[in-house]
Amino acid sequence: MDSDLREPPNSDYDLSTPINSSTGLRQGLASYGDSHFSLFLRKAFIKAAGFGEDALSRPIIGIINTFSQFNPCHANVPQLIEAAKRGVHLNGGLAIEFPTISLHESFSSPTSMYLRNLMSMDTEEMIAAQPVDAVIMIGGCDKTVPAQLMGGISANKPVLPLVTGPMMPGSNKGTRIGACTDCRNNWAAYRAGEIDIEEISDINSELAPTGGTCGVMGTASTMACITVALGMMPFNSATAPAVSSARLRVAEATGARAVEVASAKRKPQDVLSKESFLNAIVVLQAIGGSTNAIVHLMAIINRHTALAGSITLNAIDEIGRNVPLLVDLKPSGDNYMTDFHNAGGMLALMHTLRPLLYLEAKTISGKTIGEELDATPFKSFPYSASIIRPLSNPLYPDSSLIVLQGNLAPNGAVVKASASKNRRLLSHSGPAVVFENTADLAERIDDPKLEVSKDSVLVLKSIGPIGNPGMPEAGVIPIPRKLGNQGVKDMLRISDGRMSGTAGGTIVLHISPESAVADSVFGIVENGDVIQLDAEKRGLMLMVDEKEIESRIKKRKELLVDQGFAAGRASKPKRGYRGLYESRVNQAELGADFDFLRADGAGAI
Ligand code: FES
Repeated sequence: MDSDLREPPNSDYDLSTPINSSTGLRQGLASYGDSHFSLFLRKAFIKAAGFGEDALSRPIIGIINTFSQFNPCHANVPQLIEAAKRGVHLNGGLAIEFPTISLHESFSSPTSMYLRNLMSMDTEEMIAAQPVDAVIMIGGCDKTVPAQLMGGISANKPVLPLVTGPMMPGSNKGTRIGACTDCRNNWAAYRAGEIDIEEISDINSELAPTGGTCGVMGTASTMACITVALGMMPFNSATAPAVSSARLRVAEATGARAVEVASAKRKPQDVLSKESFLNAIVVLQAIGGSTNAIVHLMAIINRHTALAGSITLNAIDEIGRNVPLLVDLKPSGDNYMTDFHNAGGMLALMHTLRPLLYLEAKTISGKTIGEELDATPFKSFPYSASIIRPLSNPLYPDSSLIVLQGNLAPNGAVVKASASKNRRLLSHSGPAVVFENTADLAERIDDPKLEVSKDSVLVLKSIGPIGNPGMPEAGVIPIPRKLGNQGVKDMLRISDGRMSGTAGGTIVLHISPESAVADSVFGIVENGDVIQLDAEKRGLMLMVDEKEIESRIKKRKELLVDQGFAAGRASKPKRGYRGLYESRVNQAELGADFDFLRADGAGAI
């Protein structure tokens, strides 16, 4: 060996000195029954990657690499890693990247939600297993940020979310378009014969013109904003476009902060309090956020040891009554994430919401939200106020997201009132047109003989957490073509599934218990039953005699037992991850997480 490159004898191999195993490379050693040997081996292997003793003595900042060519929402991850590493190294840390699962909405069959819990387990276990003092979690596409927050909170080592940022909008005939509200609007127009196959093909090439997450207030944008409200990311980090230099500077700053957070040992369960989550719900309502975020928030809260079970759907509804919709973005409004960013983004919104926030909630910086706002003032300007409305002139007065209850959804259901295209339908009763599952829907929805009118209530069963499985985003039941051709744009539609955060309409979702549960009332709805939605009173009722409901449930249970199904869940046991999923996933109001992953151990094996 060249003597100039020789490292001096290393005290790590001194058998008379116990290894200080709380930080850096010395933590979490593999079990060989001899900790000095474990460290000796670990160093031998990491030196194969060219790391020297000086580098290995630094605080280790893990960087989760979720790049995948199947995930264009994460196309900029390599550049973000480079920038984050720069921030780590300039501040005396050692950055080491490692992969986890990456999920994209369109490349995860049957649905990305089915794999969210798997990604959260991957994230948790790799953070827990590897010698990291802090971890930068790069995510973005809808399910990735929730999965990382769930896993990061469960692992409870210092974690810093870093989102990939929204894509830019595209253009069609001079009109801006963007994934994915305009994917759905234009597809509905195509189905109704309003645009032809040439135009829909052109639109297809413009809906996602750059890498990055969907450019409206869909689930990805909602989760990015919520992560800021939780105090886990700085104000400027939710909205900077994926392809902007600002996004790279956010990454570099996150790298720098990670070294400080590692040295302060600032763990997520210490940073996050009940008030942090209440702030997140305030922001969720003010941005007219995705209904999916409600499910994710419940799962995230329930991963926190001190908070599991402390916040329920009721909090979403109660907070909503006092929080107006302020941000004018699709699908509730008209604009795109780039507009929100240019208007001041989350910094401007948090200043606007200041009277409604819990300012004493801590942030990852070590300061409170109130202190952070004091340190970064924002003065609204005319353009800003047109995108981020003042409290005195909201886009929608309150309750953009409403929680429903009633005999049809004893454990809750959700409707995004602000995204209704026909507000009359928020107070409506009509006869059910029932589709037993997505295959039934596909077969009959456009059948000219389907008995349906604009006042019917379209019901889709078997798309709950267990039923499909993974609770697919099939809740936006298409308007039957014969009604679409007559100009019907919206109907009351209800299901036990989800819808994309980018979608709109009068759509009741997340009905619990879902139809796949044997004693679900939703599971026994029949064609012609009258269903009543009263959003004002938060009611969702099946207008069928209680005795008749009981009798139908009894009959259904007997049938299921005869067919060899488990008594509680209507689904048959399956092998592998699907078997685990169907047997252990909980219902939407609890987060559709695996019961054994809850922090309070409810349902632990
Ligand atoms: Fe990735 Fe919409 S598909 S954010």
